[in-house]
Amino acid sequence: MSYITLRAVHKTYPNGFNALNNISLDIAAGEFVAVLGSSGSGKSTLLRTINGLDPATDGVITIGGHIVNKNNYQKIRAQIGMIFQHFNLVDRLNVMTNVLTGRLANRHWLSSLFYLFPKCDYQIAADALTEVSLLEKAWNRADTLSGGQQQRVGIARALAQQPKIILADEPVASLDPKSSEEVLILLKKICVEKGITIIANLHQVDFAMQYADRIIALKAGQLIFDDKPSLMDKTTMNDIYNLVNEETEHDAKLAVADI
Ligand SMILES: Nc1ncnc2c1ncn2[C@@H]1O[C@H](COP(=O)(O)OP(=O)(O)OP(=O)(O)O)[C@@H](O)[C@H]1O
Ligand SMILES: [Mg+2]
Repeated sequence: MSYITLRAVHKTYPNGFNALNNISLDIAAGEFVAVLGSSGSGKSTLLRTINGLDPATDGVITIGGHIVNKNNYQKIRAQIGMIFQHFNLVDRLNVMTNVLTGRLANRHWLSSLFYLFPKCDYQIAADALTEVSLLEKAWNRADTLSGGQQQRVGIARALAQQPKIILADEPVASLDPKSSEEVLILLKKICVEKGITIIANLHQVDFAMQYADRIIALKAGQLIFDDKPSLMDKTTMNDIYNLVNEETEHDAKLAVADI
């Protein structure tokens, strides 16, 4: 059964730019979906449209059977953890407090002013840090951690929210290959073990092929591929990245790395 559905979704920005054009999708609970597409194809817009930060200008989105609209964005967003390319941690705060901010979606706004959290939230945050193997860094300042570790804190923060969905916008774009792999292995594990639905924008085709259950590809705001990674062929890949057909897969990867 579909957990997230998009029906004929369009997003036109206030300046008239049409960033998403007639997107229809059905995503099941617990799926790991990678979104591919060249720069400007609409990947980030798609994620922001799903979580309501940039509401669709036409079409219908449902999450867990509820039509997403301005009256329930806040409630729906509480179920959606976000992971960002640049981690978006508060550098001067320790790791534990950063993870605890994941609880704010479930807490009174006053908690966010004073970073006041009940004891049970500390346990949830500690469990999330254990999940990403960083409990021993709980009291270190966030900016003293490596990039890979900071992204794992970002994942722990998303987990502390106890989300049903994680939207990850280029979660490994700022990381070296080894840290990238660790982060994707972790996301995959979370998806499989906790049944959390993950939608991740990626620039690396090989990572999408290796970790995702499904790949969707956008080109100029249109959905041009939606299937199993094993069905992604060279012609489709060339189409996604506007490469000429003679180019090899290796060239395609290099081109993607340049974007
Ligand atoms: N607030 C905005 N107002 C107008 N146009 C916008 C706005 N945000 C994004 N766009 C345009 O919408 C298109 C899609 O942008 P989006 O950020 O979704 O692309 P992307 O696939 O995430 O690209 P990248 O891989 O570079 O992150 C781009 O042409 C972009 O310039
Ligand atoms: Mg983007």
